Amino acid sequence: MSIGILTSGGDCPGLNAVIRGAVLKGITQHDLEFVGFKNGWKGVVDGDTVPLGRPQVMGISKQGGTIIGTSRTNPFEGDGGPENIAAMMADQGIDSLIAIGGEGTLAAAKRLTDAGINIVGVPKTVDNDLSATDYTFGFDTAVQIATEAMDRLRTTGDSHGRCMVAEVMGRHVGWIALHSGMAAGAHAILIPERKTSMDEITEWVRAAADRGRAPLIVVAEGFKLDSMDDAHSERGLDAFGRPRLGGIGDILAPEIEARTGIETRSTTLGHIQRGGTPSAYDRVLATRYGMAAVDAVLEQRWGRMVALRGTQIVHVPFEDALGRLKTVPQSRYDEAAVLFG
Ligand code: F6P
Repeated sequence: MSIGILTSGGDCPGLNAVIRGAVLKGITQHDLEFVGFKNGWKGVVDGDTVPLGRPQVMGISKQGGTIIGTSRTNPFEGDGGPENIAAMMADQGIDSLIAIGGEGTLAAAKRLTDAGINIVGVPKTVDNDLSATDYTFGFDTAVQIATEAMDRLRTTGDSHGRCMVAEVMGRHVGWIALHSGMAAGAHAILIPERKTSMDEITEWVRAAADRGRAPLIVVAEGFKLDSMDDAHSERGLDAFGRPRLGGIGDILAPEIEARTGIETRSTTLGHIQRGGTPSAYDRVLATRYGMAAVDAVLEQRWGRMVALRGTQIVHVPFEDALGRLKTVPQSRYDEAAVLFG
């Protein structure tokens, strides 16, 4: 039996560990064969494959990124669609697919499964916002990187008596901000789930400064002030008349400085949070996901993805992961907020 593996959407530390876990389990225990599709659904649509055997997966679980590449290609566009994909698979002797990706990837996988393609899914996102699984691999690494960055921001902030703002990933949810902010001892954690006023932020910054601390703020990239609606853009224009690049951290820093008189600097961590070596936790979780995905294929659990529940890996229908993101509950935010004041 031959299985095709693809990694799709934004890359994430641990993708290679999933591939290795799947391939080693499949070839050692079940005599399966594997190919990797290059660059996500693009490789599936184009029938562009690379062999995946023991030599290709040797030592890769510590490598960041994905050895088979990724893209945000929609498999229903261009030459895609279930009929073409089924024909390509028949042509290449591939029986089923393991699709590793986030919500978009799994939504496409569900449509293809409904159309008769044999697919199992593996959840992936550094943002940890996928429903139906307690954790996604990549999140732990991103939190570790953000925490280390804030530890560093703190010493430079302390030296200058400055307020430091760290902008972390999290387009729709604040899990990275919440966890790294708690770990680093931030004086305010700003997340998309909880709109906050400039007055409140100013109060937290002043309170930290009054206690003799250099204020440290972590903000998720998707955070909005309570005065900002969804279409809001306070980014202004750059010297060339284009929308100024820079996120919410760059919007907040001058405002904090103006209101408190404390010199304030903003740092956007960006893709550094997604690059490089995965943490040991992410390698283990990703490896277990890869192995469980092979079990799901052997049991023909099409339309299901592997998921973490407590310490157990389970299989859940794609639809459980789709439609609503896993947001930070108010109780988790309140727990962290006890430490701000
Ligand atoms: O969804 C994961 C994520 O890292 C988001 O936090 C971030 O907004 C986005 O991907 C960045 O995407 P890209 O790599 O396409 O710039």
